[in-house]
Amino acid sequence: MSTNLKINPERLWSTLMETAQYGATPKGGVRRLTLSDEDKMVRDWFKTTCEAAGLAVSVDAIGNMFATRPGTDPSAPAIAFGSHLDTQPAGGKFDGILGVLAGLEAMRTLNEAGYETTHPLTLVNWTNEEGARFAPAMMCSGVYAGDLDMATMLAGTDRDGKSFGEELERIGYKGPETVGERRFKAFVELHIEQGPILEAEEKTIGVVTGGQGIVWLDGVITGRDSHAGTTPMPMRRDAMNALAEVALAIEAVALEFGPAGVGTLGEALVLPGSRNTIPGTTTFKADFRHPDAEALTAMEAAFTARCREIADGRKVEIDVTRIWRKDPIAFNSTIVEAVEAAAAANALPARRMISGAGHDAFYISGTCPTGMIFVPCWEGVSHNEEESATEADCGAGAQVLLDALLRLDAN
Ligand code: GLV
Ligand code: MN
Ligand code: MN
Ligand code: MN
Repeated sequence: MSTNLKINPERLWSTLMETAQYGATPKGGVRRLTLSDEDKMVRDWFKTTCEAAGLAVSVDAIGNMFATRPGTDPSAPAIAFGSHLDTQPAGGKFDGILGVLAGLEAMRTLNEAGYETTHPLTLVNWTNEEGARFAPAMMCSGVYAGDLDMATMLAGTDRDGKSFGEELERIGYKGPETVGERRFKAFVELHIEQGPILEAEEKTIGVVTGGQGIVWLDGVITGRDSHAGTTPMPMRRDAMNALAEVALAIEAVALEFGPAGVGTLGEALVLPGSRNTIPGTTTFKADFRHPDAEALTAMEAAFTARCREIADGRKVEIDVTRIWRKDPIAFNSTIVEAVEAAAAANALPARRMISGAGHDAFYISGTCPTGMIFVPCWEGVSHNEEESATEADCGAGAQVLLDALLRLDAN
């Protein structure tokens, strides 16, 4: 099946550049942390723009936003698509928002053509995909799916002690809709690849077949604050040097489980934070990923065993808490095939791949048939202000999204 509907890549691009002003950084990136003023600004823009396109916008009790275009069969379940509008602290213009704006572009294209789908179409902005301000990542698709507890998530705090629930109310996005009340016929998420494969292989479309598992660990290392000038080296209980060993242990474990396994220490604090005080406390946040669930479990076990050795050797305590785990997922073959067929119908070079990054589609895949579309990004760089993608590739991704949605509507 194929239609002649063509999305407008220039319009998509100008919408991407317009929204990049919300939280724009001097280096050309975007800082739009979940539930910040910048997140509110882009949400307000999204709501107004969707309403101007004739979509009915609603918000659920954890801030997920749904913009719906009716279908001809009001009893049919909606076909959903979208991604997220929040970013990393030093993020780019594409991670997340491309999938939302491509969905908007698909809606605008259908409107212009006066094309009626059988199923309603629902464009979604999932709250807090990044997990940078409030952990974990993919939070509110996880709540929607029933895998994460709403009350626990609302009570979670950022590093300044502000709670997710308070901030959600502050920006006016705690909506009345019951979370998880909607059930979709299908969900399709377009995203930049965030890795180097498509660019290196000169493919325009990644047909995503699944995603790797993720474990987040929070650690506290406790030694003893003491004087930098007077404490003999053998008498120190230096939490900073223990942290240095922990960082290298994360790398060593990842390499041991490589090349599929990866491990990162992305955030740490050194306390009390004074040049001439030996740090008595450090904290760290670690991220391990692997496409195989058992290997992911083994990575975590290897790391915690290594922490015990480091603690003994350095006379410190190391407490490690697992705050989140998302098992590897496989996407639905019907959606994978629809995406593949859509790429072929548009003569776009494509390859199947699994996602190294986490996406809301992972949680949604537990609720309805789900799949993803990737497009290349420059040097595979993401979670970086320099993140970039071309107008042509973003447009190709949006075209495949629209085509895939129409294929699913026809079934
Ligand atoms: C968040 O974007 C993640 O993939 O970790
Ligand atoms: Mn993302
Ligand atoms: Mn991201
Ligand atoms: Mn992600």
